Amino acid sequence: MIGIVVLLVGLILALVFQPEISALMPTVSSELSPALADNDTALTDQIIDGKDVDTGLLAGDGLEIVKGNCTACHSSALILQSGFTREGWHEKIVWMQETQGLWDLGGNESIILDYLATNYGPKESHGRRMPLTGIDWYELKD
Ligand code: HEC
Repeated sequence: MIGIVVLLVGLILALVFQPEISALMPTVSSELSPALADNDTALTDQIIDGKDVDTGLLAGDGLEIVKGNCTACHSSALILQSGFTREGWHEKIVWMQETQGLWDLGGNESIILDYLATNYGPKESHGRRMPLTGIDWYELKD
């Protein structure tokens, strides 16, 4: 019996407030959908703390061209973890062209190589300290 009363009260409330509820609906959905659409179109092209938000690549000349050509098959992580000279990067590109189906980069190749060599050059330290200098060695005596 109480269940039926609660149900009826609920129905009446729903009917009374229906205009307000339906008035709210379009506002909510039109505010939500553009945001959802933005999230779906992946790239933001935002730079925060000198890094491209989409890929983690360092900001610099040629970034957009590198993003466009170098993150199509694999993630930018392969670049982030690498450090090569310009020649070294060129060898990687030739290797990908010969064995992995990377396309001819045309005039963009030198822009890409400049970007990579500048921002992802050979890593200076491989976890070993620099050799000590200026030490006064002395002879051990027995
Ligand atoms: C057509 C697909 C494709 C494109 C485009 C591509 N790569 Fe690659 N790349 C590969 C494949 C496949 C591998 C091997 C991945 C693996 O080992 O998991 C690779 C590996 C790499 C590696 C690791 C190689 C190593 O020996 O350490 C680096 C660095 C790299 N790519 C950089 C780049 C750069 C820079 C570009 C833009 C010029 C690029 N890739 C564009 C397919 C591609």
